[in-house]
Amino acid sequence: MEIRTVGVLGCGLMGAGIAQVSAQAGYTTIVREVEQPFLEKGLGRIKKFLSDGVDKGKVTPDARDKTLGNLKGTTSVDDLKDCDLVIEAIIESLDEKARAYEAVERVVRPEAIIVSNTSSLCVTELAAKTKRPDRFGGLHFFNPVPILKLVEVIRALTTSDETYKSLYAFAQALGKEPITAPDKPGFIVNRLLVPYLLDAIRAHEHGLGTVEDIDKGMKLGCNYPMGPFTLLDYVGLDTTYYIANIMFEEYREPAYAPPPLLKRMVLAGRLGRKSGQGFYQY
Ligand code: 3HC
Repeated sequence: MEIRTVGVLGCGLMGAGIAQVSAQAGYTTIVREVEQPFLEKGLGRIKKFLSDGVDKGKVTPDARDKTLGNLKGTTSVDDLKDCDLVIEAIIESLDEKARAYEAVERVVRPEAIIVSNTSSLCVTELAAKTKRPDRFGGLHFFNPVPILKLVEVIRALTTSDETYKSLYAFAQALGKEPITAPDKPGFIVNRLLVPYLLDAIRAHEHGLGTVEDIDKGMKLGCNYPMGPFTLLDYVGLDTTYYIANIMFEEYREPAYAPPPLLKRMVLAGRLGRKSGQGFYQY
């Protein structure tokens, strides 16, 4: 099926990034937020990224204007009625997502595809919440979405071959590099990344080194763009804790068990950049 019009549910950090790359790739893109102030914040983030891109010489003024011309914000699900593909990027709650799919399915055509950008929930379970489990899958983007090239394409047990092929081709059309990931907790990247981040916290708790030295070690010794604690603050400690719990629940392996310090930092509201304090102060 040809995808022309794309809907994005949620204009937070991930939703805004996804809407931006979709509009940048030439798709008519409609991004929906529940309330106007959230929508304006998300659209503002996109505009700033594009104008910073122009200042840096990475985006032409023409490309900026075309991207913004392809993009429309709304608070009404009805405006998604002509979408061929709807990408859901709302909070990681099964109930909230199920409610959002029900609202979308009331307005879109039967052949439209719905995907989730979930980083932790079971895509097959999400598909089962819809009336189109064969036209449902996962597209997992990485933060910052406009910069990082990867998209994981996830097939639910019920995803049809046709849907999978359309999603893979769509990710390529966005200028991304797709990989096919299984519908298992963490998919491919978080399955490897999260135990590494948890291990860094455990090692620090057990006296391996300071936060700064461990970060410096991995950054300068392995040429990683960020050390594990900088990355934890960047991803969000609550997000990491949430993903770790889901992975531990399913696999029951110690590598996925959230360390006590992570739990306590989340309980204390030290969530990383977003709260002003995590392993570092912002
Ligand atoms: N418009 C266009 N291009 C821009 C831009 C803009 N507004 N802002 C930056 N760029 C470009 C830069 O020009 C640069 O391009 P170049 O490599 O060709 O020179 C590139 O983007 C990097 O930008 P900066 O130089 O400004 O930034 P840094 O070099 O400091 O990198 C970073 C910042 C990209 C965030 C890097 O530190 C990084 O990759 N960190 C790791 C992030 C990561 O691991 N993310 C994944 C998290 S896990 C996840 O998301 C999954 C979830 O499920 C948890």
